[in-house]
Amino acid sequence: MDRRHVLSASLAAGATVAGIAAADQSSSAKPKTILGIACSPREGKTTAASIAVALEAVKETHASLNTELIDLGGLTFKGWNGTGKFSDDDFSTVLLPKLKDPNVKGLIIGSPVYFRNMSSLCMALLERMGALRKPELLLANKIAGALSVGGYRHGGQELVVQQIQAAMLCHEVLLVGGKPGAHQGAMLWNEHKDDISKDTFGIETAKQLGIRVAEAVYDLV
Ligand SMILES: Cc1cc2nc3c(=O)[nH]c(=O)nc-3n(C[C@H](O)[C@H](O)[C@H](O)COP(=O)(O)O)c2cc1C
Repeated sequence: MDRRHVLSASLAAGATVAGIAAADQSSSAKPKTILGIACSPREGKTTAASIAVALEAVKETHASLNTELIDLGGLTFKGWNGTGKFSDDDFSTVLLPKLKDPNVKGLIIGSPVYFRNMSSLCMALLERMGALRKPELLLANKIAGALSVGGYRHGGQELVVQQIQAAMLCHEVLLVGGKPGAHQGAMLWNEHKDDISKDTFGIETAKQLGIRVAEAVYDLV
């Protein structure tokens, strides 16, 4: 039931408008958070910088939204190991609590292109995120968008965005791309020795992704 229907159902049941407004304010007092996850082993490089641009656009679109950048380059964990039992690595201790936070309403996942595929670090993340699917789908109906950075123009960025999106569908997230110019997601070209700010076209796609994710989280989740 959406907020409008809750309101009319509650009023029909005799609740006061003031009471509903107070309840509504307390639930909306918790800021909605959008996590940006950069899946390059090179901490702080072009993927992380591109995610940061998307998150800045989130804040510019709706200042009330929280954002957090998680740079996997500084973390250590492996993908699925066949048993489902993991020692206390950075996925279990750092990432999982953040991903399970109910205030997290949106994700932007970005990967460098490695041989026209996502990075192994991104795949490890997506495999371990299986922990968010059972016993319940914790990410269902949250917003997700994808970004990729390649060293070549047409180096496989669209393929990587599609791979991330395909994996995220297994969580029953609501996938979004970006606004016009970035309808599938954000794709950037690291042409200038790791100074991604010089890829003005690609930077614009990161902004358009951030705007769309912000709009969707604000309006739908
Ligand atoms: C193992 C490896 C494979 C790569 N394969 C591709 C590729 O297929 N297409 C491409 O455009 N760039 C490729 N690159 C370049 C990276 O995608 C590019 O440098 C990117 O900016 C790295 O992201 P980072 O700065 O966040 O680490 C590859 C780089 C590495 C290390």
